[in-house]
Amino acid sequence: MRQLNPLGSSSAGVLLVSFLSLVQISKAVKHGDFKTCAQSGFCKRNRALADQATAAGASRTSPYELDANTVALKDGVLTATILKNIGEENVELPLVFSFLDNGVARVTIDEAKRMTGQIELRHGSTAKKERYNEAAKWALVGGENFHKDAIIKTEDGVTSVAYGPAGYQVKITHKPFSVKFLKDGEAHVVLNERSFMNIEHWRPKPEDSDGNKGDDTWWEEAFGGNTDSKPRGPESVAMDITFPGYDHVYGIPEHASSLSLKETRGGEGNYNEPYRLYNADVFEYEIDSPMTLYGSIPFMQAQKKGSTVGVFWLNAAETWIDIVKQKTNVNALSPERATTQTHWMSESGLLDIFVLPGPNSSWLYKQYGDLTGFTALPAAFSIAYHQCRWNYVSQDDVKDVDRKFDKFDIPYDVIWLDIEYTDSKKYFTWDPLTFKDPETMLKTLDKRERKLVAIIDPHIKNDKNYAIGNELVNKGFGVMDKTGKKIYEGWCWPGSSHWIDCFNPAARAWWKSLFDFKKFVGSMPNTWIWNDMNEPSVFNGPETTMPKDNIHYDNWEHRDVHNLNGMTFHNATYEALKTRLGPGKERRPFVLTRSYFAGSQRTAAMWTGDNQADWSHLAQAFPMLLAQGIAGMPFAGADVGGFFGNPSKELLTRWYQAGAFYPFFRGHAHIDAKRREPYLAGEPYVSIIRDAIRLRYSLLPTWYTAFHRASWEGMPILRPHFVMFPDDEAGFAIDDQFYLGDTGILVKPIVSEGVTETSVYVPEENMVYYDYFDYTMYNGKGIRSVPAPLGSIPMLMRSGHIIPRKDRPRRSSGLMRYDPYTLVVALAPGGAGGVLYVDDGETYDNKDGAFIHRSFIYNPGDKTLRSGNLHPEPAKAAKYVKEMRDVRVERVILVGVTDEWKDKKTVEVKQGSKTWDAEVKFVEGKEGRASHVIVRNPRVAIVKDWTINFA
Ligand code: NOJ
Repeated sequence: MRQLNPLGSSSAGVLLVSFLSLVQISKAVKHGDFKTCAQSGFCKRNRALADQATAAGASRTSPYELDANTVALKDGVLTATILKNIGEENVELPLVFSFLDNGVARVTIDEAKRMTGQIELRHGSTAKKERYNEAAKWALVGGENFHKDAIIKTEDGVTSVAYGPAGYQVKITHKPFSVKFLKDGEAHVVLNERSFMNIEHWRPKPEDSDGNKGDDTWWEEAFGGNTDSKPRGPESVAMDITFPGYDHVYGIPEHASSLSLKETRGGEGNYNEPYRLYNADVFEYEIDSPMTLYGSIPFMQAQKKGSTVGVFWLNAAETWIDIVKQKTNVNALSPERATTQTHWMSESGLLDIFVLPGPNSSWLYKQYGDLTGFTALPAAFSIAYHQCRWNYVSQDDVKDVDRKFDKFDIPYDVIWLDIEYTDSKKYFTWDPLTFKDPETMLKTLDKRERKLVAIIDPHIKNDKNYAIGNELVNKGFGVMDKTGKKIYEGWCWPGSSHWIDCFNPAARAWWKSLFDFKKFVGSMPNTWIWNDMNEPSVFNGPETTMPKDNIHYDNWEHRDVHNLNGMTFHNATYEALKTRLGPGKERRPFVLTRSYFAGSQRTAAMWTGDNQADWSHLAQAFPMLLAQGIAGMPFAGADVGGFFGNPSKELLTRWYQAGAFYPFFRGHAHIDAKRREPYLAGEPYVSIIRDAIRLRYSLLPTWYTAFHRASWEGMPILRPHFVMFPDDEAGFAIDDQFYLGDTGILVKPIVSEGVTETSVYVPEENMVYYDYFDYTMYNGKGIRSVPAPLGSIPMLMRSGHIIPRKDRPRRSSGLMRYDPYTLVVALAPGGAGGVLYVDDGETYDNKDGAFIHRSFIYNPGDKTLRSGNLHPEPAKAAKYVKEMRDVRVERVILVGVTDEWKDKKTVEVKQGSKTWDAEVKFVEGKEGRASHVIVRNPRVAIVKDWTINFA
């Protein structure tokens, strides 16, 4: 296997890795290393069941029936038993149906025999007997505001519950069991409409194994030389979920696919495989594929004109999702509509489904965030530019890169160290030859408020001379093999390794202790952490990960928790970093993770892993990042430049222009790739890249404001067309242009070679869109051609918005803290508005009110621009406001003024009791450009209420 690095000594390891990757530059995923649905026993079985049910049509009856005598509703929670009829016997499946105040409903189905431990495990396994019931503990932070006044009615074999906002209703048909979720009488989501529901109940293995000849994957499953012992036999859960009248579905990252998800049951342009969620280190992953990748968030949004709904499938085991669309003519006059039918299959655990009613995107994301938490408001530096490669090879190398950025006047905030900085891949150590004095290096970075991110992975070197490795073994904090008694051993970067089991609270406490400055000697307060390989990646494991029958803390099988594993690890790192400076000095940690699950947004940023220096991978990144935003984890990026391979200068330049719009903006490269720090590109590329990075820095105030909104409302930072224009069906599949937060900035980065102009879809009839740079006007709905030579980024400003920026180039974002603002007002006939959120960008003082939250409104009636306070408790901001009192607005630009403004020389400024004049200059727009005025130095404070009167 290419990634093997058994030598463990860093320089020899580098050589070996380089050699192996040189001989295998195949640039294509090895399909044979990863299962297809047909090779995954439960996926195959559930698809077969679906095929039978479809073929049988109405004559197939689902064996599941709600036992009417068991139904009870109390305080918004309905309990009942579902019976699965398997001939002689009925399998009891306890159902809990919760109804929340906000219209969200949750259906949880368990298995009675397993709840009470009445099953036998095979092979003497020590695994738990219950179905895994702790995914909620990791993923959820809310979901308990039950609608206590929910009203129940049972009639003709149907139980109806009215709950939540007026007009919300659930109808449960008893036999066969199916559920309709309705709003105002119309069904938006239906469970088991197609009878694909399947809960593989526990059964003993028949003595005569011939009894199961038909499907030998029930009792064990072999793949890639590894045999899964499956001590509980078959135990999958599956359900069909239909979205009637909804023709687009989005979400369920991580896949290198389109934003609007494709059909998966064949046909032209469709996939043949379901979308898979099984966190894995997929070497040289391919694009336009439903194959699994490093992270999973089983949240799906369905969209039709004017309405949106969501489904969250809370299950951490391997999961597959089939999607098909049924075209229906609603009536002869109406156009063809699609109903999207999905089929969800998980290998084990509970059947646990949340239905989120929307009815629009902003409500939906809030509902999802109320359940799983919102993205943490990041440390301000972490949304600036990051410079990484595998590897900066010594502290002198780091200092040299740092100096060169300054020499070439390119801002950057963070430099990264990949695995080679360690002493032989022993985390929490430094290579004694190349990183002799990390503290001096870190102090050098700190002079310009720059940071270091160092990698720390979950595989711990199995080496008698490594104290941390010994502690892990002796304390029993590692993941165990299938016996549950012996620590699991596998291969990763250090060679033979063990894996920390962060499901164990004691292991997490120990992990935290390792970040003590006395233990991680050489690290400093400006050191932050990158958690990689946490799927976990195991080079010699099945599908490059852990065997499913490995045992975690509390005897849960790895099978049950696989997709949660990465999150438990980055959560532990986050907790460690938060309190590193000691009590009362908590800071917002920065942790980058490769593997993630629903809830990861609360503690980490992610990136899309090992992409390639190829135009197609540049293009693929945006749909992936947009999907991350839909699924509540918007702090996301892709390796700028492409990880594998060497980008041409044009590709590198275009990638920087695109990367300037990644919420997480980092250049990174494989160890064999040529050096490609931006200053090496030569002219004109260096200047163009510098401009792109500076553009990111100048817009940092708006990025931070967008992150702030995401952190309490869940609105994505990059907003796809359908989120902005939910009635414009023509744009529902667009995933190559997007809007930045609430700014109205529409971006269409160039992702193909040799382009000099591009088509941008301008979605509104009556709104002017201004070119961000030269104010060229684009009027009217339709596809517009926008010039895009190499030096430019197609970027339009939707009229009606006000954009706060900081235009003075600095070396790092920290040095911009007290810089003055520029406000750009893109005028619409109805006026314009914008928002700015600022805080110290580092501590949690913002939670105590130490922040600035302003609104800017331009009123065309009295031609006045006003700054107003949005802070709900301004007194709490007093200290921070004092710190920021000298921060001014140095420029206001009004774009889209008429000729009447021509002779205007001054404007009247009012702040508090004072009034003064500021100079204003009119610039006539020529050749299709809008005219604008510039107010120079109006001297207003960012923390104060003020008006600028243009009348
Ligand atoms: C795999 C990661 O995806 C990549 O970014 C990193 O450089 C290597 N591991 C080495 O740590």
